[in-house]
Amino acid sequence: MASIIRTAGLNRIFQSGRDTVHALRNINISIEKGTLTMLRGRSGSGKTTLLNLLGALDQPSEGKIFFNDMEITGMSEETRDEIRRKSMGFVFQSIALISQMTAYENVDFGLRVTGYEPDAREERAVKCLELVGLDKRMRHFPHEMSGGEQQRVAIARAIAHKPEVIFADEPTAELDTHMGLQVVKLFKDLVEYECLTVVMTTHDPNMMEVANQVFTLEDGGIADGQ
Ligand SMILES: Nc1ncnc2c1ncn2[C@@H]1O[C@H](COP(=O)(O)OP(=O)(O)OP(=O)(O)O)[C@@H](O)[C@H]1O
Ligand SMILES: [Mg+2]
Repeated sequence: MASIIRTAGLNRIFQSGRDTVHALRNINISIEKGTLTMLRGRSGSGKTTLLNLLGALDQPSEGKIFFNDMEITGMSEETRDEIRRKSMGFVFQSIALISQMTAYENVDFGLRVTGYEPDAREERAVKCLELVGLDKRMRHFPHEMSGGEQQRVAIARAIAHKPEVIFADEPTAELDTHMGLQVVKLFKDLVEYECLTVVMTTHDPNMMEVANQVFTLEDGGIADGQ
């Protein structure tokens, strides 16, 4: 299987005032296309830092990141922005929907921002809301939906422009276990039926069995035995 993301000797050091935080140490991982990967570990272990690096939102202090065998760490900021906009989608813990827009409008807005073909926008927005099981909630505003439904709208928006990979930072943290599992199963379906690659962080041990691959972070490194 082809790897979509690969890292080599990744280190991330944060300097804040006199303090130096070695947030990631020598990370060497490979993620295959069409899989669901979970990053787990205690608070402060480096999950968000790693996810931000893989999603080209941040640059490592040392090491390389390859996306489809192209080294993104060596690219100009402009090129990385372009790859991020076209090929990546993001879902966050606190659901960042626009409250004055309906579910449909939120997804449509995401398509506009990524420059999706205008004539095809409506069909794609509807299709994505169907994929996440919310075709009946299309005209609902965020406050008229449950937390799980809102997170599914956020996922519809993240996948709408047909990215190759979705990065999700604790997408289930604000949901109860039942709704959280629904969201993770949705990711699994998207991986299986849309050939998407999903990389997510989680604290929740109940989620692990759905993953194709789990990396445990400890003090910024991948735990032994992995
Ligand atoms: N911008 C920053 N400046 C300084 N230190 C930082 C910065 N971002 C993160 N850190 C530190 O790096 C370490 C890893 O942080 P990170 O946010 O990756 O942890 P996490 O595993 O996502 O934790 P959580 O489960 O609480 O979200 C922590 O010790 C944190 O304090
Ligand atoms: Mg985090």
